[in-house]
Amino acid sequence: MILVTGANGRPGSAVVREFARHGTPVRALVRNPEKADDLRALPGVDVVDGDMLWPETLESALAGVDRVLVISNAGPEMLETQCTFIDAATRAGVGHIVKFSGKDSVEGFDNEKFRSSRSHEQIQRYLFASGTPWTVLQPSQFMQVYFEEVPDIVRSGELRLPLGDTTMAPIDIDDIGEIAYAVLTTPGHEGRTYAMTGPEALTMAEVAGHISDAIGRPVRYCDVTSEDKQRAWLEAGYPPPRASAFAQLFQERSRLGRSTVDLTTHEYFGIEPTTFAEFARRNADVFRGATDYSVTPA
Ligand SMILES: NC(=O)c1ccc[n+]([C@@H]2O[C@H](COP(=O)([O-])OP(=O)(O)OC[C@H]3O[C@@H](n4cnc5c(N)ncnc54)[C@H](OP(=O)(O)O)[C@@H]3O)[C@@H](O)[C@H]2O)c1
Repeated sequence: MILVTGANGRPGSAVVREFARHGTPVRALVRNPEKADDLRALPGVDVVDGDMLWPETLESALAGVDRVLVISNAGPEMLETQCTFIDAATRAGVGHIVKFSGKDSVEGFDNEKFRSSRSHEQIQRYLFASGTPWTVLQPSQFMQVYFEEVPDIVRSGELRLPLGDTTMAPIDIDDIGEIAYAVLTTPGHEGRTYAMTGPEALTMAEVAGHISDAIGRPVRYCDVTSEDKQRAWLEAGYPPPRASAFAQLFQERSRLGRSTVDLTTHEYFGIEPTTFAEFARRNADVFRGATDYSVTPA
């Protein structure tokens, strides 16, 4: 049996949907079963509840599991959550742990400088030392993070980010879902790290152009200071540590300036990379503000 954790979240639900699309049975771990009706409606998906921080809640979720995909939020608790879960999975005799990590596409990015990327490095080292066969997935920024800019796009026709002319190479979560599915269902991935980005390094003016084409309304990139963006994140209800971590992250991306595209993983698995234009067209109603982004679309 294959277990996917973080199954109510963005990447986790995309991986579970990919299993359902192929008709391959999968177990999906959620900590909030009330939010899991969409997952439960998918064919072949066995939804189980448990908290990755509390091993005593994971016994039935981990029973009979050969492979597991480990995903949880990028917040301050990620290190403890995932190391605790790796211990529980190893004790339960899981044969292969696939860790969902991340890798910024901006050239020269130092993982040790930021809590989330530093935590991923620490968890990876913990996993390597666990003795359980492992694989690491390292996607770049998700295309879906641009949904967070929908309120500005709808209100003022502006994509307001503190990135100047910096390029980013975001990846569609659905591409990651296809890659994760291949890693979890075929042999030969132990001891390997798969980095992946989207197919283009785009300035924010280009991202705004693609959104504009998709929704049929003008959308203009507006370069704002990281202080202004941090204030906007706080006003939008982001917790202060998250708003300040994002502001520092964007400052660093802006300072470094240029992203590298890495399609070696897409090519290795024979997966066609989704362009931002295709992604924006597919989600035009979300960018118009006409429908909310759902992690488990029908
Ligand atoms: N955002 C990006 O651009 C990006 C790029 C590359 C990599 N990543 C990485 O992707 C990962 C997922 O991030 P995300 O923001 O996409 O997260 P997300 O959508 O919020 O998904 C995380 C899921 O993990 C679940 N979870 C967290 N703690 C748990 C626990 N103790 N027990 C059981 N389930 C738990 C959450 O459950 P609830 O639904 O109950 O909260 C949530 O469904 C992070 O490691 C992040 O660093 C992100």
